[in-house]
Amino acid sequence: SSADEFHLLDVTEKFQGISFPGHLHTKDSLEFAVSFLFKDTDVLIVSYPKSGTTWMQEIVTLVSSRGDPQFSRTVPNWARAPWLEHYYCAAVLEASSPERRIITTHLPYHLLGPALQGSKAKVIYVSRNPKDVAVSFYHFHKIANFLPEPGSFHEFLDHFLEVYYGSWFDHIKGWTSHTEAINNLLHITYEQMSLDLHGTIKKVSSFLQCPLVEDEVNNCVKHSSFSSMRDNNMINYTLVPKDIMDHSKGSFMRKGEIGDWKNMFTEEQNQYFESVFTSKMQGCTLEFVWEKH
Ligand code: A3P
Repeated sequence: SSADEFHLLDVTEKFQGISFPGHLHTKDSLEFAVSFLFKDTDVLIVSYPKSGTTWMQEIVTLVSSRGDPQFSRTVPNWARAPWLEHYYCAAVLEASSPERRIITTHLPYHLLGPALQGSKAKVIYVSRNPKDVAVSFYHFHKIANFLPEPGSFHEFLDHFLEVYYGSWFDHIKGWTSHTEAINNLLHITYEQMSLDLHGTIKKVSSFLQCPLVEDEVNNCVKHSSFSSMRDNNMINYTLVPKDIMDHSKGSFMRKGEIGDWKNMFTEEQNQYFESVFTSKMQGCTLEFVWEKH
């Protein structure tokens, strides 16, 4: 019955102290992820949720097919670029044997780093202004039935450090401070994609050693725009049953903007966030460009 299914969706899998939504993650799938054998030809997209993961999956798919949208219009993103820690990943990877596997993960560095040691897999780390991440994640909690009810934005923000998938701060610090251990890591921000999609696609294509001619780059740009992606059922999650994602409560492809936090944060919340940010990011030398200029 649907009540049983809801119960099934409402479980949490705790793994090494971090909570994961239980219906996608099992103890076995998380074990599978942390002991995964990477191939040197693999491309791994790493992000904290709501940072532009789906966007990068699209860019990497399109770059790999030289701007031809056929693959991304016929195969759902979770089958083209499965999340390593989701229960279906092993089966998806077994069923398809592409030249280059595209794999996605939200796992923090301290969980996945050991499996990547010594590997030449190419890692693309995607980050986004954590204030915009918090806003996007808040709205996503409302439509995703596998995540708890977020309550008010104020309550959600208070919990932002302990929500599912662990802390944003640990995630970004972990993945960006161990570059000596990972051979190939490209850090791209949501803001870079937003401010210069063309330039970002060229960067990704050169990182993947997949040089494209100008027309091909332009096709990648066209098919990874917000409006093309919003209208593609293989990306916008409308294929997912309503008891998993309730699209009457909002869209996965919600706004796609830089700085939406300004519509949501009060001045007090902003000050609180800034103080948490300053103390948590102490010693971090990354320079972020998070605003439009
Ligand atoms: P918003 O909720 O702010 O709109 P993820 O894929 O990591 O879950 O991130 C989802 C966020 O990326 C959503 O943000 C979504 O709208 C945004 N996004 C996805 N594709 C995009 C695109 N082509 N252009 C701009 N934003 C995009």
